[in-house]
Amino acid sequence: MTVRNRLYRAPVLEGAGDGPDAGDQYAKHFVENAQRGVGMIIQGASCVTEEGRSGPGMSCVDTREKVMRFAPMVDAVHNAGARIVLQLGHGGLYAIEAWHEPYASNRKGPLTAPSPVPWQLKVAFRGIPVRAMSTEEVHELVGRYGRISAWAREAGYDAIQLGNSNAKLLDQFLSPFYNRRTDEFGGSLEGRARILRLIRASVAEHAGADFPCLVKVASEVGGIPGTKHTSFDDALKLAPMLEEWGFDALTPCEVSAFPDTTLCRGGVPDGIWTNPGMVNRLKKAAPTRRKRAVLKIGAWYGGKRAPFKPVWNRQLFAAISQRVSIPVFAVGGIRTADEVNQILESGEAQMVGIGRPFYAEPDLAEKILGGDHGARLCLNSNKCVSAQMLGMRGVCYNPAVTKIRPAGADATS
Ligand SMILES: Cc1cc2nc3c(=O)[nH]c(=O)nc-3n(C[C@H](O)[C@H](O)[C@H](O)COP(=O)(O)O)c2cc1C
Repeated sequence: MTVRNRLYRAPVLEGAGDGPDAGDQYAKHFVENAQRGVGMIIQGASCVTEEGRSGPGMSCVDTREKVMRFAPMVDAVHNAGARIVLQLGHGGLYAIEAWHEPYASNRKGPLTAPSPVPWQLKVAFRGIPVRAMSTEEVHELVGRYGRISAWAREAGYDAIQLGNSNAKLLDQFLSPFYNRRTDEFGGSLEGRARILRLIRASVAEHAGADFPCLVKVASEVGGIPGTKHTSFDDALKLAPMLEEWGFDALTPCEVSAFPDTTLCRGGVPDGIWTNPGMVNRLKKAAPTRRKRAVLKIGAWYGGKRAPFKPVWNRQLFAAISQRVSIPVFAVGGIRTADEVNQILESGEAQMVGIGRPFYAEPDLAEKILGGDHGARLCLNSNKCVSAQMLGMRGVCYNPAVTKIRPAGADATS
């Protein structure tokens, strides 16, 4: 894949869902980003099964038809000169069926995970049925990734990315905290990562060996004290294995062992306390005080323990860059042309991604490529995170921005 420049839009969910306008919702954001010069867009994670979404607005790509509905949007992005990548995900233990009442009561079966719930999380998962996947089911899931990749290629996407970061299903396989399997998919780092190896092979088999397959590489910076997690060293060891297995590019990312805002860093997503639309949605999602308390504590803890810091993934992506010869994609708190140029010129990464600020500034690529060093409109408040958790649109919820950009109109509804 040749990209016209080294700036990409990092995956942030659009809340486009699965309605008839899903493709248009993505197009509304992406086409303008492309027209304003971004090199590549990684679409926020789409779910590989009907169950397993991490938020109500996450699109599903479990059938050919659902993937093909995005073809006109993909075409429009191409016509505007950018590349577009489909990110594939699954929430596993942290799927929406675990915590969102209407989804939980309509779930078709137990949540799927690599192993039973770790005992330390038993209280939080009280009353939520969870089943460890059988070896056959893991192989079935691997094939599913391959089939979806073939449909993605048919729809015109330039690549797929495995969205494993932030404690989702593939991270749960990688993490010794969540994965206590004794079959071929557990044990050593290589065993826990075997699912990635097989998915890479399945993508080549179904979509063609020349269809690029990208992957995120997580290092967990926090978990329950005294428990094992995916360490910085694990991420450094995993990166060359991923290259050997045929992955085409890596996005290193420091995350938490839990699905909190460590993934993006920044403020406590206070919308769930202050925004009337979010407060109402939270009450529907979590009707009991206990559930609401668990979600609020999670949101508060993530925001407090991982404050915003410019270019916070630098240590990890720079170290991984030295260990592989495939492109490394930087992401995380990158805001100015100076930071972008410095990362590229020093060879710490080969592509640079920006996520949340695209919500507030759809013309961001034009500004950065033009050498903009100014402050971004994005305040890293993470209001966009709680909004998406509750099924609202992927837009900026900073009141100063919603005033000037009507796209944020549902920010208060
Ligand atoms: C609202 C929101 C949704 C996100 N969704 C995804 C996602 O679907 N897949 C993913 O890999 N990362 C996701 N991320 C992480 C971003 O891609 C990015 O790594 C992170 O926000 C840090 O970059 P930034 O500081 O430029 O926003 C999300 C972040 C936010 C704030």
